[in-house]
Amino acid sequence: MTDAETNSKIDAETGIEAETDIEATDATDGDDRVPIADPELSADATQRVRSVLESGALADGPEVRAFEREFATFCGTDHAVATSNGTTALVTALEALGLEEDDAVVTSPFSFVASANAIRLAGGTPVFADIDTETYTLDPADVERVVQERDDVVGLLPVHLYGLPADMPALCDLADAHDLFVLEDACQAHGAKCNGKRAGSFGDAACFSFYPTKNMTTGEGGVVTTDRDDVAERAAQYVNHGRGETGTGDYDHVELGHNHRMTSVEAAIGRTQLERLSTFNEARREHAAAYDEAFTELPLETPTEPPRYRHVYHQYTIRAADRDALAASLEDQNIGTGIYYETPIHRQPAYETISAAAATFPEAERAADRVLSIPVHPNVSADDRRTVIEAVRNHYDQQ
Ligand SMILES: Cc1ncc(COP(=O)(O)O)c(C=O)c1O
Repeated sequence: MTDAETNSKIDAETGIEAETDIEATDATDGDDRVPIADPELSADATQRVRSVLESGALADGPEVRAFEREFATFCGTDHAVATSNGTTALVTALEALGLEEDDAVVTSPFSFVASANAIRLAGGTPVFADIDTETYTLDPADVERVVQERDDVVGLLPVHLYGLPADMPALCDLADAHDLFVLEDACQAHGAKCNGKRAGSFGDAACFSFYPTKNMTTGEGGVVTTDRDDVAERAAQYVNHGRGETGTGDYDHVELGHNHRMTSVEAAIGRTQLERLSTFNEARREHAAAYDEAFTELPLETPTEPPRYRHVYHQYTIRAADRDALAASLEDQNIGTGIYYETPIHRQPAYETISAAAATFPEAERAADRVLSIPVHPNVSADDRRTVIEAVRNHYDQQ
């Protein structure tokens, strides 16, 4: 089975085998299908994994330390602490930032549920603020409203959705003014920039996911980046059962912790992916520019890249009034699509008791009704791109 075939069966976000619903329409086999996600692994990755296997050091070890150093350098941060996935990275960072029982953290209702789940798993309370219409990321004005209304907010957890950083200058100013920490959810934004700075280097800490559909992968995996020595030290302890130095022996556990460690095999894959990340992101940006141009005359909205931002198009997400019809029509034409996210987090059944019953976030809800992602990954060929563009045009020509 080729990579394309394998991945044509997985949902781009969850990795769960897709049914025939329009949330993840890659269930159809077929050579001419353009899947919504298709991870690209090189011969180098196979080579480096083989040498890890031959070394016998499969769990934590020098390969993980090397990956951490290289990822921190890439982000421009002093430290990186590798984890088992993006969710555990978020929980680890929140623990390292000192989140306490019932502390409130403001985040986006328009994200993968992990952004808010991590706050709950670390013992805190997720509180939502609405998103900006154009960027789909936290609206600083609405965050300010929430922070003014409550006295239990200790931090902000902005999400760089689809590969576009949130408004970090405004959110960091707001956090400074109210003495809050900032934890970036950069799980979808490897290599993205704002004002020349990379996602992952703005807040007190940031987290990335290396799930197979992300801009770079380690299989499963994640990382916490930070400039703060104290956060890096606590994160490194937390992922390893709170193991630390007291000078009395090898098994000193100075804090309660977990096993959220990355494996050496994952780190080996990550090192080769990091070498190729810029090329991957260039390909995504090239596809996005071609789609932007091709769709100008059509009745849909293309993604925004505000001045001084560098979008890395984890997803190329359009907004259309007839979203479901468009998705069905693309499916008929063998194009994989995804809806990220059809149900905002505050409307999820698991959040019934968490979100204020009457809470409404009109922009998040409008986005959930209209967004549709189309294939933008590096394995989309020039031919595939033409096929996608034709398929979208066909849909509107037939109306
Ligand atoms: C915005 C966001 N946050 C957190 C996560 C969690 O990452 P992981 O799936 O690696 O646990 C994801 C991954 O899908 C994500 O997209």
